Amino acid sequence: MSNQHLAHHRAKWKSHIGFLFAAVGSAIGLGNIWRFPYLCYKNGGGAFLIPYFVALFVVGISLMILEIGIGHKMRGSAPASFASISRKWEWLGWWQVIFIMFGIMCYYSVIIGWCINYFVYSFNLSWGQDTGNFFFNDFLQASSVLASKNPFELGTIVMPIFLSLAVVWFLCWLVVFKGVQKGLERANKIFMPILFILMAIVVFWSVRLPGAGEGISIYLTPDFERLKSPRVWLDAFGQIFFSLSLGFGIMTAYASYLPPKSQITRDSFIIGLVNCIFSVFAGFGVFAVLGYMAHTTGQPFSEIVAESIGLAFIVYPKVISMMPHFGNLFGVLFFGALVIAGLSSAVSIVEAFTSAGIDKFHHKRGSLVSTLCVTGFLGSIIFCMQGSFLWIDIVDHFIMQYGLIIAGFFECILIGWVYGAEKLRMHINKHSVAKTYRIWDFFICWVIPLFLGLSIVQGLITELKAPYGGYSWLAIVLIGRDWLLYTLFAGIIVAGHEWRSDPRERMLE
Ligand code: PHE
Repeated sequence: MSNQHLAHHRAKWKSHIGFLFAAVGSAIGLGNIWRFPYLCYKNGGGAFLIPYFVALFVVGISLMILEIGIGHKMRGSAPASFASISRKWEWLGWWQVIFIMFGIMCYYSVIIGWCINYFVYSFNLSWGQDTGNFFFNDFLQASSVLASKNPFELGTIVMPIFLSLAVVWFLCWLVVFKGVQKGLERANKIFMPILFILMAIVVFWSVRLPGAGEGISIYLTPDFERLKSPRVWLDAFGQIFFSLSLGFGIMTAYASYLPPKSQITRDSFIIGLVNCIFSVFAGFGVFAVLGYMAHTTGQPFSEIVAESIGLAFIVYPKVISMMPHFGNLFGVLFFGALVIAGLSSAVSIVEAFTSAGIDKFHHKRGSLVSTLCVTGFLGSIIFCMQGSFLWIDIVDHFIMQYGLIIAGFFECILIGWVYGAEKLRMHINKHSVAKTYRIWDFFICWVIPLFLGLSIVQGLITELKAPYGGYSWLAIVLIGRDWLLYTLFAGIIVAGHEWRSDPRERMLE
Protein backbone atom coordinates (compact mmCIF):
# COMPACT_ATOMS: atom_id res chain seq x y z
CA MET A 1 0.00 0.00 0.00
CA SER A 2 1.37 3.44 -0.75
CA ASN A 3 1.88 5.87 2.06
CA GLN A 4 -0.60 8.38 0.85
CA HIS A 5 -3.06 5.61 0.67
CA LEU A 6 -2.25 4.47 4.19
CA ALA A 7 -2.45 7.98 5.57
CA HIS A 8 -5.73 8.46 3.87
CA HIS A 9 -7.06 5.26 5.32
CA ARG A 10 -5.89 5.85 8.82
CA ALA A 11 -8.51 4.71 11.29
CA LYS A 12 -10.67 7.53 12.63
CA TRP A 13 -13.00 8.08 15.55
CA LYS A 14 -16.58 8.18 14.38
CA SER A 15 -17.43 11.01 16.73
CA HIS A 16 -15.63 13.46 18.94
CA ILE A 17 -17.44 12.17 22.00
CA GLY A 18 -16.21 8.69 21.12
CA PHE A 19 -12.63 9.92 21.40
CA LEU A 20 -13.37 11.60 24.71
CA PHE A 21 -14.98 8.49 26.14
CA ALA A 22 -12.03 6.38 25.07
CA ALA A 23 -9.46 8.79 26.50
CA VAL A 24 -11.39 9.13 29.76
CA GLY A 25 -11.78 5.34 29.77
CA SER A 26 -8.04 4.95 29.60
CA ALA A 27 -7.46 7.50 32.33
CA ILE A 28 -10.06 6.25 34.77
CA GLY A 29 -8.86 2.91 35.98
CA LEU A 30 -8.09 0.92 39.06
CA GLY A 31 -5.85 3.77 40.19
CA ASN A 32 -8.75 6.16 40.64
CA ILE A 33 -10.81 3.92 42.81
CA TRP A 34 -8.30 2.43 45.18
CA ARG A 35 -5.03 4.30 44.88
CA PHE A 36 -6.18 7.89 45.02
CA PRO A 37 -8.25 7.67 48.22
CA TYR A 38 -5.45 5.91 50.02
CA LEU A 39 -2.84 8.44 48.92
CA CYS A 40 -5.11 11.20 49.98
CA TYR A 41 -5.49 9.75 53.44
CA LYS A 42 -1.81 9.07 53.83
CA ASN A 43 -0.77 12.53 52.72
CA GLY A 44 -2.77 14.87 54.83
CA GLY A 45 -6.41 14.29 53.82
CA GLY A 46 -8.03 17.30 52.21
CA ALA A 47 -4.69 19.11 52.07
CA PHE A 48 -3.47 16.53 49.53
CA LEU A 49 -5.92 17.99 47.07
CA ILE A 50 -3.64 21.02 46.80
CA PRO A 51 -0.54 19.24 45.43
CA TYR A 52 -2.83 16.95 43.50
CA PHE A 53 -4.54 19.74 41.61
CA VAL A 54 -1.27 21.66 41.22
CA ALA A 55 0.16 18.50 39.66
CA LEU A 56 -2.90 18.20 37.45
CA PHE A 57 -2.66 21.72 36.10
CA VAL A 58 1.11 22.04 35.87
CA VAL A 59 2.21 18.60 34.74
CA GLY A 60 -0.91 16.61 33.94
CA ILE A 61 -2.74 18.85 31.55
CA SER A 62 0.46 20.21 30.00
CA LEU A 63 1.67 16.74 29.13
CA MET A 64 -1.77 15.74 27.98
CA ILE A 65 -1.71 18.67 25.54
CA LEU A 66 1.75 17.57 24.45
CA GLU A 67 0.82 13.93 23.88
CA ILE A 68 -2.45 14.66 22.15
CA GLY A 69 -0.87 17.50 20.19
CA ILE A 70 2.00 15.44 18.82
CA GLY A 71 -0.24 12.49 17.92
CA HIS A 72 -2.54 14.86 16.10
CA LYS A 73 0.25 16.64 14.27
CA MET A 74 2.15 13.52 13.23
CA ARG A 75 -0.93 11.38 12.86
CA GLY A 76 0.93 8.46 14.32
CA SER A 77 1.56 6.36 17.39
CA ALA A 78 4.32 7.46 19.77
CA PRO A 79 7.16 5.71 17.87
CA ALA A 80 5.95 7.05 14.53
CA SER A 81 5.52 10.55 15.93
CA PHE A 82 8.93 10.62 17.53
CA ALA A 83 10.58 9.12 14.46
CA SER A 84 8.99 11.88 12.39
CA ILE A 85 10.81 14.38 14.55
CA SER A 86 14.09 12.51 14.55
CA ARG A 87 14.97 8.89 13.89
CA LYS A 88 17.38 9.13 16.78
CA TRP A 89 14.45 9.46 19.18
CA GLU A 90 12.32 6.66 17.93
CA TRP A 91 13.55 4.34 20.70
CA LEU A 92 11.70 6.44 23.25
CA GLY A 93 8.35 5.72 21.66
CA TRP A 94 9.08 2.03 21.42
CA TRP A 95 10.30 1.90 24.95
CA GLN A 96 7.05 3.47 26.12
CA VAL A 97 4.78 1.11 24.26
CA ILE A 98 6.88 -1.95 25.09
CA PHE A 99 7.19 -1.35 28.78
CA ILE A 100 3.58 -0.54 29.11
CA MET A 101 2.55 -3.63 27.17
CA PHE A 102 5.02 -6.04 28.76
CA GLY A 103 5.41 -4.26 32.07
CA ILE A 104 2.23 -2.62 33.26
CA MET A 105 -0.27 -4.58 31.21
CA CYS A 106 1.07 -7.95 32.35
CA TYR A 107 0.22 -7.27 35.97
CA TYR A 108 -2.64 -4.82 35.42
CA SER A 109 -4.47 -7.63 33.61
CA VAL A 110 -3.90 -9.94 36.57
CA ILE A 111 -5.38 -7.42 38.99
CA ILE A 112 -8.42 -7.03 36.75
CA GLY A 113 -8.57 -10.82 36.91
CA TRP A 114 -8.65 -10.66 40.71
CA CYS A 115 -11.53 -8.20 40.45
CA ILE A 116 -13.42 -10.62 38.22
CA ASN A 117 -12.96 -13.34 40.83
CA TYR A 118 -14.14 -11.05 43.60
CA PHE A 119 -17.06 -9.98 41.48
CA VAL A 120 -18.13 -13.62 41.41
CA TYR A 121 -17.34 -14.18 45.09
CA SER A 122 -19.59 -11.23 45.97
CA PHE A 123 -22.70 -13.16 45.05
CA ASN A 124 -22.40 -15.47 48.05
CA LEU A 125 -19.73 -13.64 50.05
CA SER A 126 -17.35 -16.55 49.65
CA TRP A 127 -14.52 -14.76 51.43
CA GLY A 128 -15.98 -15.58 54.85
CA GLN A 129 -15.14 -13.62 58.00
CA ASP A 130 -11.36 -13.37 57.86
CA THR A 131 -10.95 -11.60 54.56
CA GLY A 132 -7.21 -11.02 54.93
CA ASN A 133 -6.56 -14.68 55.46
CA PHE A 134 -8.85 -15.53 52.58
CA PHE A 135 -7.07 -13.15 50.24
CA PHE A 136 -3.50 -14.19 50.96
CA ASN A 137 -3.92 -17.83 51.81
CA ASP A 138 -6.94 -19.13 49.96
CA PHE A 139 -7.09 -16.82 46.99
CA LEU A 140 -3.46 -15.97 46.20
CA GLN A 141 -2.16 -19.11 47.94
CA ALA A 142 0.85 -17.01 48.79
CA SER A 143 1.38 -17.61 52.47
CA SER A 144 4.74 -19.36 52.24
CA VAL A 145 6.19 -16.86 49.78
CA LEU A 146 5.01 -13.92 51.80
CA ALA A 147 6.74 -15.33 54.82
CA SER A 148 10.05 -15.86 53.04
CA LYS A 149 9.83 -12.63 50.98
CA ASN A 150 11.73 -14.47 48.29
CA PRO A 151 10.16 -13.72 44.91
CA PHE A 152 12.12 -16.47 43.21
CA GLU A 153 10.04 -19.05 45.00
CA LEU A 154 7.31 -18.79 42.42
CA GLY A 155 5.33 -21.91 43.21
CA THR A 156 2.60 -23.05 40.89
CA ILE A 157 -0.03 -21.28 38.81
CA VAL A 158 -3.13 -20.32 40.76
CA MET A 159 -5.97 -21.65 38.65
CA PRO A 160 -8.86 -19.25 39.38
CA ILE A 161 -6.57 -16.31 38.69
CA PHE A 162 -5.27 -17.93 35.53
CA LEU A 163 -8.79 -18.47 34.22
CA SER A 164 -9.91 -14.93 34.92
CA LEU A 165 -6.71 -13.71 33.30
CA ALA A 166 -7.67 -15.57 30.15
CA VAL A 167 -11.04 -13.81 30.22
CA VAL A 168 -9.36 -10.40 30.56
CA TRP A 169 -7.04 -11.00 27.61
CA PHE A 170 -9.86 -12.38 25.52
CA LEU A 171 -11.96 -9.26 26.13
CA CYS A 172 -9.03 -6.97 25.32
CA TRP A 173 -8.35 -8.94 22.19
CA LEU A 174 -11.97 -8.70 21.12
CA VAL A 175 -12.16 -4.94 21.56
CA VAL A 176 -8.84 -4.03 19.97
CA PHE A 177 -9.23 -6.59 17.20
CA LYS A 178 -12.42 -4.90 16.07
CA GLY A 179 -10.58 -1.66 15.55
CA VAL A 180 -11.00 1.95 16.49
CA GLN A 181 -14.64 2.59 15.70
CA LYS A 182 -16.22 -0.78 16.12
CA GLY A 183 -14.04 -1.88 19.01
CA LEU A 184 -12.57 0.86 21.17
CA GLU A 185 -15.12 3.54 20.51
CA ARG A 186 -18.13 1.32 20.83
CA ALA A 187 -16.86 -0.47 23.94
CA ASN A 188 -16.01 2.76 25.73
CA LYS A 189 -19.34 4.30 24.82
CA ILE A 190 -20.94 1.40 26.65
CA PHE A 191 -18.37 1.02 29.43
CA MET A 192 -18.12 4.61 30.56
CA PRO A 193 -21.79 5.39 31.21
CA ILE A 194 -22.15 2.06 33.04
CA LEU A 195 -19.08 2.83 35.11
CA PHE A 196 -20.41 6.27 36.05
CA ILE A 197 -23.76 4.82 37.06
CA LEU A 198 -22.23 1.99 39.09
CA MET A 199 -19.90 4.34 40.87
CA ALA A 200 -22.68 6.81 41.59
CA ILE A 201 -24.78 4.06 43.17
CA VAL A 202 -21.85 2.77 45.21
CA VAL A 203 -20.91 6.23 46.46
CA PHE A 204 -24.45 7.35 47.34
CA TRP A 205 -25.06 4.04 49.03
CA SER A 206 -21.81 4.34 51.01
CA VAL A 207 -22.40 7.85 52.27
CA ARG A 208 -25.70 6.78 53.80
CA LEU A 209 -24.15 4.03 55.91
CA PRO A 210 -23.96 4.72 59.65
CA GLY A 211 -20.63 6.27 60.57
CA ALA A 212 -19.98 7.42 57.00
CA GLY A 213 -19.80 11.05 58.10
CA GLU A 214 -16.84 10.37 60.37
CA GLY A 215 -14.95 8.72 57.55
CA ILE A 216 -15.63 11.58 55.20
CA SER A 217 -14.57 14.15 57.71
CA ILE A 218 -11.24 12.34 58.08
CA TYR A 219 -10.95 12.26 54.29
CA LEU A 220 -11.43 15.98 54.01
CA THR A 221 -9.83 17.37 57.16
CA PRO A 222 -6.70 19.06 55.92
CA ASP A 223 -3.38 18.66 57.63
CA PHE A 224 -1.39 21.45 56.03
CA GLU A 225 1.77 20.50 57.90
CA ARG A 226 2.12 17.51 55.59
CA LEU A 227 2.53 19.75 52.57
CA LYS A 228 6.05 20.51 53.74
CA SER A 229 7.18 16.98 52.96
CA PRO A 230 8.56 16.42 49.44
CA ARG A 231 7.17 12.87 49.53
CA VAL A 232 3.64 14.26 49.46
CA TRP A 233 4.38 16.22 46.31
CA LEU A 234 6.08 13.26 44.69
CA ASP A 235 3.08 11.10 45.42
CA ALA A 236 0.79 13.69 43.90
CA PHE A 237 2.83 13.98 40.71
CA GLY A 238 3.26 10.22 40.40
CA GLN A 239 -0.43 9.66 40.82
CA ILE A 240 -1.31 12.26 38.20
CA PHE A 241 1.00 10.59 35.70
CA PHE A 242 -0.33 7.12 36.27
CA SER A 243 -3.91 8.20 36.53
CA LEU A 244 -3.92 10.20 33.32
CA SER A 245 -2.10 7.36 31.50
CA LEU A 246 0.69 9.76 30.56
CA GLY A 247 4.17 8.80 29.43
CA PHE A 248 3.06 5.64 27.62
CA GLY A 249 2.13 6.86 24.19
CA ILE A 250 -1.53 6.03 24.76
CA MET A 251 -2.95 9.50 24.30
CA THR A 252 -0.67 9.96 21.29
CA ALA A 253 -2.10 6.88 19.61
CA TYR A 254 -5.68 7.89 20.43
CA ALA A 255 -5.07 11.42 19.14
CA SER A 256 -3.68 10.12 15.87
CA TYR A 257 -7.21 9.05 14.94
CA LEU A 258 -8.61 12.56 15.36
CA PRO A 259 -9.71 14.69 12.42
CA PRO A 260 -7.66 17.81 11.52
CA LYS A 261 -10.12 20.15 13.18
CA SER A 262 -9.78 19.12 16.81
CA GLN A 263 -10.04 20.79 20.17
CA ILE A 264 -6.76 19.68 21.66
CA THR A 265 -6.50 22.17 24.51
CA ARG A 266 -10.12 21.91 25.53
CA ASP A 267 -10.14 18.11 25.35
CA SER A 268 -7.02 17.87 27.47
CA PHE A 269 -8.72 19.93 30.17
CA ILE A 270 -11.87 17.84 29.94
CA ILE A 271 -10.03 14.52 30.20
CA GLY A 272 -7.86 15.72 33.09
CA LEU A 273 -10.72 17.23 35.03
CA VAL A 274 -13.18 14.38 34.54
CA ASN A 275 -10.53 11.92 35.68
CA CYS A 276 -9.64 13.84 38.80
CA ILE A 277 -13.20 14.67 39.75
CA PHE A 278 -13.99 10.99 39.42
CA SER A 279 -11.15 10.18 41.83
CA VAL A 280 -12.28 12.71 44.40
CA PHE A 281 -15.84 11.44 44.09
CA ALA A 282 -14.74 7.81 44.50
CA GLY A 283 -12.82 8.93 47.58
CA PHE A 284 -16.08 9.91 49.28
CA GLY A 285 -17.37 6.39 48.81
CA VAL A 286 -14.20 4.75 50.06
CA PHE A 287 -13.97 6.89 53.19
CA ALA A 288 -17.63 6.54 53.94
CA VAL A 289 -17.15 2.79 53.89
CA LEU A 290 -14.11 3.01 56.15
CA GLY A 291 -16.08 5.24 58.52
CA TYR A 292 -18.85 2.67 58.58
CA MET A 293 -16.38 -0.03 59.43
CA ALA A 294 -14.79 1.99 62.25
CA HIS A 295 -18.26 2.74 63.56
CA THR A 296 -19.41 -0.86 63.47
CA THR A 297 -16.32 -2.57 64.81
CA GLY A 298 -15.23 0.16 67.21
CA GLN A 299 -11.69 -0.05 65.79
CA PRO A 300 -9.74 3.20 65.44
CA PHE A 301 -9.74 4.60 61.94
CA SER A 302 -5.98 4.44 61.46
CA GLU A 303 -6.00 0.69 61.94
CA ILE A 304 -8.56 0.17 59.26
CA VAL A 305 -7.04 2.04 56.38
CA ALA A 306 -5.09 -0.31 54.21
CA GLU A 307 -2.88 0.28 51.25
CA SER A 308 -4.33 -0.02 47.76
CA ILE A 309 -4.58 -3.75 47.28
CA GLY A 310 -5.57 -4.37 50.88
CA LEU A 311 -8.28 -1.77 50.59
CA ALA A 312 -10.07 -3.36 47.68
CA PHE A 313 -9.53 -7.01 48.47
CA ILE A 314 -9.48 -7.11 52.25
CA VAL A 315 -11.30 -4.12 53.71
CA TYR A 316 -14.09 -3.91 51.15
CA PRO A 317 -15.01 -7.59 51.35
CA LYS A 318 -15.09 -7.29 55.12
CA VAL A 319 -17.42 -4.33 55.00
CA ILE A 320 -19.60 -6.04 52.44
CA SER A 321 -19.98 -9.01 54.77
CA MET A 322 -20.89 -6.68 57.62
CA MET A 323 -23.74 -5.03 55.78
CA PRO A 324 -27.05 -6.27 57.12
CA HIS A 325 -28.86 -5.97 53.79
CA PHE A 326 -27.86 -6.49 50.19
CA GLY A 327 -24.14 -6.65 50.92
CA ASN A 328 -23.71 -8.95 47.96
CA LEU A 329 -25.36 -6.49 45.63
CA PHE A 330 -23.01 -3.80 46.89
CA GLY A 331 -20.06 -6.11 46.22
CA VAL A 332 -21.25 -6.92 42.73
CA LEU A 333 -21.60 -3.22 41.90
CA PHE A 334 -18.25 -2.29 43.39
CA PHE A 335 -16.21 -5.07 41.82
CA GLY A 336 -18.16 -4.68 38.59
CA ALA A 337 -17.08 -1.03 38.51
CA LEU A 338 -13.47 -2.03 39.08
CA VAL A 339 -13.57 -4.56 36.26
CA ILE A 340 -14.99 -2.04 33.82
CA ALA A 341 -12.62 0.73 34.86
CA GLY A 342 -9.71 -1.66 34.48
CA LEU A 343 -10.75 -3.07 31.13
CA SER A 344 -11.23 0.30 29.51
CA SER A 345 -7.68 1.17 30.55
CA ALA A 346 -6.29 -2.18 29.48
CA VAL A 347 -7.60 -1.89 25.94
CA SER A 348 -5.87 1.47 25.58
CA ILE A 349 -2.56 -0.17 26.43
CA VAL A 350 -2.96 -2.85 23.78
CA GLU A 351 -4.01 -0.21 21.26
CA ALA A 352 -0.92 1.93 21.92
CA PHE A 353 1.28 -0.98 20.89
CA THR A 354 -0.96 -2.10 18.06
CA SER A 355 -1.05 1.28 16.44
CA ALA A 356 2.75 1.47 16.64
CA GLY A 357 3.12 -1.92 14.94
CA ILE A 358 0.72 -0.96 12.18
CA ASP A 359 2.51 2.35 11.62
CA LYS A 360 5.98 0.94 11.34
CA PHE A 361 5.62 -2.52 9.87
CA HIS A 362 2.23 -2.16 8.15
CA HIS A 363 1.10 -5.29 9.99
CA LYS A 364 -2.53 -6.24 9.64
CA ARG A 365 -4.46 -5.26 12.76
CA GLY A 366 -6.05 -8.69 13.17
CA SER A 367 -2.89 -10.76 13.19
CA LEU A 368 -0.92 -8.19 15.15
CA VAL A 369 -3.52 -7.94 17.91
CA SER A 370 -3.85 -11.70 18.10
CA THR A 371 -0.11 -12.24 18.41
CA LEU A 372 0.18 -9.45 20.91
CA CYS A 373 -2.62 -10.69 23.14
CA VAL A 374 -1.32 -14.25 23.12
CA THR A 375 2.20 -13.07 23.99
CA GLY A 376 0.86 -10.69 26.62
CA PHE A 377 -1.24 -13.44 28.11
CA LEU A 378 1.75 -15.77 28.30
CA GLY A 379 3.83 -12.99 29.84
CA SER A 380 1.15 -12.34 32.45
CA ILE A 381 1.31 -15.90 33.68
CA ILE A 382 4.30 -15.02 35.79
CA PHE A 383 2.01 -12.68 37.70
CA CYS A 384 -0.60 -15.30 38.48
CA MET A 385 1.56 -17.72 40.38
CA GLN A 386 1.79 -18.20 44.11
CA GLY A 387 4.82 -15.95 44.46
CA SER A 388 3.59 -13.31 42.05
CA PHE A 389 2.37 -10.94 44.68
CA LEU A 390 5.97 -9.93 45.32
CA TRP A 391 6.67 -9.53 41.61
CA ILE A 392 3.72 -7.24 41.20
CA ASP A 393 4.94 -5.19 44.10
CA ILE A 394 8.49 -4.82 42.74
CA VAL A 395 7.63 -4.23 39.09
CA ASP A 396 4.90 -1.78 40.01
CA HIS A 397 7.28 0.17 42.21
CA PHE A 398 9.92 0.50 39.50
CA ILE A 399 7.54 1.35 36.73
CA MET A 400 5.66 3.87 38.82
CA GLN A 401 8.68 5.50 40.37
CA TYR A 402 10.97 5.52 37.37
CA GLY A 403 9.45 4.25 34.15
CA LEU A 404 6.78 6.88 33.78
CA ILE A 405 8.85 9.70 35.08
CA ILE A 406 11.88 8.95 32.93
CA ALA A 407 9.68 8.59 29.86
CA GLY A 408 7.91 11.86 30.66
CA PHE A 409 11.23 13.61 31.17
CA PHE A 410 12.57 12.56 27.77
CA GLU A 411 9.28 13.40 26.13
CA CYS A 412 9.60 16.98 27.36
CA ILE A 413 13.19 17.21 26.18
CA LEU A 414 12.28 15.87 22.77
CA ILE A 415 9.28 18.06 22.18
CA GLY A 416 10.44 21.10 24.12
CA TRP A 417 13.97 21.28 22.82
CA VAL A 418 14.46 19.08 19.78
CA TYR A 419 11.16 19.73 18.05
CA GLY A 420 10.28 23.02 19.70
CA ALA A 421 7.45 23.57 22.16
CA GLU A 422 6.43 26.73 20.35
CA LYS A 423 6.17 24.94 17.03
CA LEU A 424 3.84 22.34 18.47
CA ARG A 425 1.81 25.01 20.25
CA MET A 426 1.37 26.85 16.95
CA HIS A 427 0.07 23.67 15.41
CA ILE A 428 -2.34 23.08 18.27
CA ASN A 429 -3.62 26.64 18.14
CA LYS A 430 -4.02 26.57 14.40
CA HIS A 431 -6.52 23.75 14.65
CA SER A 432 -8.35 24.41 17.90
CA VAL A 433 -10.55 27.21 19.11
CA ALA A 434 -9.40 27.24 22.75
CA LYS A 435 -5.76 28.32 22.71
CA THR A 436 -2.75 27.02 24.56
CA TYR A 437 -0.82 29.93 26.02
CA ARG A 438 2.84 30.65 25.87
CA ILE A 439 3.43 29.62 29.45
CA TRP A 440 2.97 26.05 28.26
CA ASP A 441 6.32 26.27 26.44
CA PHE A 442 7.94 27.24 29.69
CA PHE A 443 6.32 24.33 31.50
CA ILE A 444 7.40 21.84 28.86
CA CYS A 445 10.96 23.11 28.48
CA TRP A 446 11.78 23.93 32.08
CA VAL A 447 9.32 23.31 34.86
CA ILE A 448 8.34 19.71 34.09
CA PRO A 449 11.81 18.36 33.18
CA LEU A 450 13.28 20.05 36.21
CA PHE A 451 10.69 18.63 38.48
CA LEU A 452 10.83 15.16 36.97
CA GLY A 453 14.62 15.19 37.05
CA LEU A 454 14.56 16.07 40.75
CA SER A 455 12.09 13.30 41.52
CA ILE A 456 14.28 10.77 39.76
CA VAL A 457 17.31 11.84 41.77
CA GLN A 458 15.37 11.91 45.01
CA GLY A 459 13.94 8.46 44.26
CA LEU A 460 17.35 7.03 43.46
CA ILE A 461 18.80 8.34 46.68
CA THR A 462 16.14 6.61 48.74
CA GLU A 463 16.53 3.52 46.60
CA LEU A 464 20.22 3.20 47.21
CA LYS A 465 19.91 3.63 50.95
CA ALA A 466 17.98 0.41 51.40
CA PRO A 467 16.44 -2.06 48.95
CA TYR A 468 12.80 -1.31 48.29
CA GLY A 469 10.27 -3.07 50.50
CA GLY A 470 12.84 -5.15 52.36
CA TYR A 471 13.54 -7.46 49.40
CA SER A 472 17.00 -8.75 48.63
CA TRP A 473 19.16 -6.61 46.36
CA LEU A 474 19.25 -9.48 43.93
CA ALA A 475 15.48 -9.47 43.57
CA ILE A 476 15.38 -5.71 43.17
CA VAL A 477 18.05 -5.70 40.48
CA LEU A 478 16.86 -8.75 38.57
CA ILE A 479 13.18 -7.98 38.64
CA GLY A 480 12.81 -4.25 39.08
CA ARG A 481 15.73 -2.58 37.37
CA ASP A 482 16.10 -5.18 34.65
CA TRP A 483 12.48 -4.92 33.72
CA LEU A 484 13.13 -1.34 32.74
CA LEU A 485 16.42 -2.18 31.04
CA TYR A 486 15.17 -5.11 28.96
CA THR A 487 12.24 -3.12 27.68
CA LEU A 488 14.64 -0.31 26.86
CA PHE A 489 16.90 -2.66 24.86
CA ALA A 490 13.89 -4.08 23.09
CA GLY A 491 12.82 -0.53 22.25
CA ILE A 492 16.23 0.31 20.82
CA ILE A 493 16.28 -2.86 18.72
CA VAL A 494 12.83 -2.35 17.25
CA ALA A 495 13.66 1.29 16.55
CA GLY A 496 16.69 0.10 14.55
CA HIS A 497 14.50 -1.66 11.98
CA GLU A 498 13.74 0.05 8.72
CA TRP A 499 10.39 1.74 8.17
CA ARG A 500 8.21 0.30 5.48
CA SER A 501 7.43 3.89 4.53
CA ASP A 502 8.54 7.30 5.69
CA PRO A 503 6.61 8.14 8.89
CA ARG A 504 6.70 11.85 8.05
CA GLU A 505 4.36 11.45 5.14
CA ARG A 506 1.46 11.15 7.51
CA MET A 507 2.11 14.51 9.11
CA LEU A 508 -0.63 17.13 9.12
CA GLU A 509 0.11 20.59 7.79
N1 PHE B 1 -4.85 5.35 34.25
C1 PHE B 1 -5.03 4.04 34.76
C2 PHE B 1 -5.49 4.05 36.19
O1 PHE B 1 -5.65 5.05 36.81
C3 PHE B 1 -3.82 3.21 34.71
C4 PHE B 1 -3.20 3.10 33.40
C5 PHE B 1 -1.91 3.38 33.30
C6 PHE B 1 -3.91 2.75 32.31
C7 PHE B 1 -1.33 3.30 32.09
C8 PHE B 1 -3.33 2.68 31.11
C9 PHE B 1 -2.03 2.97 31.01
O2 PHE B 1 -5.69 3.01 36.74
